[in-house]
Amino acid sequence: MLIIGIETTCDETACAVVRDGREILSNVIASQIDVHRLYGGVFPEIASRQHCELIIPVIESALKEANIPISAVDGIAVAKGPGLIGPLLIGLNAAKAIAYSWNKPLIGVNHVEAHLYAAMMGHAVRTFPALGVVLSGGHTFISLIHDIGSYQVLSTTVDDAVGEAFDKVAKMLELPYPGGPQIEKIAIGQDTDRYKLKAGFVKERPLDFSLSGIKTGVLNLIQKIPKEKLIDERPFIAAAFQKTVFEDIAKKIHAILATTQASTIYFGGGVCCNMQLRNVLKERLPQEVDLRFAPPSLCLDNAVMIAGLGNHKLLAHPQGDNFTLQPMTRIPLASH
Ligand code: KG4
Ligand code: ZN
Repeated sequence: MLIIGIETTCDETACAVVRDGREILSNVIASQIDVHRLYGGVFPEIASRQHCELIIPVIESALKEANIPISAVDGIAVAKGPGLIGPLLIGLNAAKAIAYSWNKPLIGVNHVEAHLYAAMMGHAVRTFPALGVVLSGGHTFISLIHDIGSYQVLSTTVDDAVGEAFDKVAKMLELPYPGGPQIEKIAIGQDTDRYKLKAGFVKERPLDFSLSGIKTGVLNLIQKIPKEKLIDERPFIAAAFQKTVFEDIAKKIHAILATTQASTIYFGGGVCCNMQLRNVLKERLPQEVDLRFAPPSLCLDNAVMIAGLGNHKLLAHPQGDNFTLQPMTRIPLASH
């Protein structure tokens, strides 16, 4: 089965062609990072305008690269949310236009569910229940996966997503957007114990995350350091921040794991590109647990994961979605 995937939830305009939910025939991503960097974060209205300009050339180049006839396409999958309303509308309308004019089924896909699918698509054998962890710029949760399409969220954040906290801390350290890769880079090989930071604790919900306290912790540290010394101290602050956040994530996953029958964990979302995170998880979680990370290129927003999950959804519902499908800025994970 051949599926075209379209992704426009935030600041990447992406289109991919995927065969049978796993073979990538093309994967085109036009990132808007250079434009948004000027503002230190994603500027929604500018993102919408960029998607308008990029959507047709991106789709054209994904189709050209895949080199497949229209007649061979089985469906058009599109991220229906969660995300920014303007960007979502552009991807959804493009997908509807193609599906309508080519007479193909339209498949609306949940973007965060697709982040989990990115970790699953390389594995032909999947046993459930498993745990699914998404750590991205917009989302942070640990869920129990009963099956693809059936999830129970066991832990989430009460304030910032982990990637969002990385971006904000990077800004405080005067590092460019997006901050996650910058923090990882300057923290490599640095002493993690020169500064002490505390992970957040949510009263009565100890498995949930809170990132606002540690951001304040970083701010307090910065304010105590003379400005001319900040550049030299940045790597140690970054290393302490990463270590504290990652150990907290490992601790919560460990606690949740003990309450389930899961022996496999799927990881997706931009923060899962971070090699230090992967190392901490490998060190802290039981050895017999199978940690399945999405490949770094598929951790970040992409359309391969949309097409891949779309394939799965189309097999379950061959008629696809109605053309009245609307974008949703928020969607609970269990919803379809
Ligand atoms: O999954 P993604 O591309 O978009 C969302 O759906 O949000 O994730 C982007 C987020 C950004 O916050 C970025 O700073 C973070 O992922 N990120 C990282 C790394 N690479 C990207 N965070 C930590 N370490 C990294 N290497
Ligand atoms: Zn994402």
